Amino acid sequence: MEGTTSKLPHCTGVIERYRQYLPVGKSTPIVSLGEGNTPLVYCSHLSNQVGRSCEVFVKNEGTNPTGSFKDRGMTVAVSKAIERGARAIICASTGNTSASAAAYAARAGILCVVILPAGKIATGKLMQAFAYGAKIVAIHGNFDHALRIVRELGDREEFVIVNSINPDRIAGQKTAAFEIVDVLGDAPDFHLLPVGNAGNITAYWMGYREYRTHQESTRVPSMIGFQATGAAPIFHNRVIEKPETIASAIRIGNPASWKHACAAIAESRGAIDVVSDQQILEAQSWLAKHEGIFVEPASAAAITGLFKCCDSNEAAYSFQKIPEASRIVCTVTGHGLKDPDAIIQQMKELQPVDPTVKDVRRAIGL
Ligand code: F0G
Repeated sequence: MEGTTSKLPHCTGVIERYRQYLPVGKSTPIVSLGEGNTPLVYCSHLSNQVGRSCEVFVKNEGTNPTGSFKDRGMTVAVSKAIERGARAIICASTGNTSASAAAYAARAGILCVVILPAGKIATGKLMQAFAYGAKIVAIHGNFDHALRIVRELGDREEFVIVNSINPDRIAGQKTAAFEIVDVLGDAPDFHLLPVGNAGNITAYWMGYREYRTHQESTRVPSMIGFQATGAAPIFHNRVIEKPETIASAIRIGNPASWKHACAAIAESRGAIDVVSDQQILEAQSWLAKHEGIFVEPASAAAITGLFKCCDSNEAAYSFQKIPEASRIVCTVTGHGLKDPDAIIQQMKELQPVDPTVKDVRRAIGL
């Protein structure tokens, strides 16, 4: 744990930075990997897509220690678990929560059990859970089944659940909203993000409201969430029994924070919308090639959503008449390296050539 053995400066995470807003006390042992403080990148090409002198920023959560936004919540959830004397944590996951839980449990020296839908976890994320030494159980079922089992085990056994149904997770994740306000000087006008189990939209909304209450900002943004077409329970207002999407992180049919997400959208005068798998893959590629930011497919849903708001008359929220110079933040939630399968297909086209300048020039197309 931080600062217990070394006098050298240690990495500062979200607990130390935002302690006054978090459920921690002086005696809470801090389990941190230096999460948070992620880049808020101004994106000129995305801004041009919106026009009307609007500014688009991407909050790149893929730069967190395990490559996703989950680390913000996990540092708080695991620190609180240790404070309460826990010896084991448990979670259901589409991949990122398990990677993060496994890392923070390893750091705290406790057991981490992860329940995963078999064959549905992106390669990089599953690799992370193995590398950090989690006890991994794959089930013949989807995320919603896994979460149901975790809830039961959490009630019956000595496990602390570290899914976002644990309020400590939401508390940690709200720090991303604080960081955005700290950098921009006020809240943005719009905040776009992917929605799966709906913990993150809940957390951002809580963070924005808290900062306004403490007069750190003068306003709150409209929250606009995006689900994949085949996994859009909130959009359709019904449980989806067999959710399907290439964006495996948000392949969820019965989100735990459904009601909170609806409240965030209604109170902020935002919207929930859907984006197709094809659009998600196109936006993933576009963002990497035009802004240099490589994200996993679920994260690209926020960028797809931005394009939809600009272009489509069918969008749940249209940017065609938004005020000039509006500020828009899109959260990209996880790193592209976690989910390489779609890109690996493209790599198969790479054919080696002979090691001569002539052949290399030809291969370049000169
Ligand atoms: N983006 C990524 C990369 C995610 O991993 C998740 C959720 C979301 C977006 C959606 O966030 O659930 O708070 O609405 N991943 C969870 C997991 C479910 O198990 O890793 P949410």
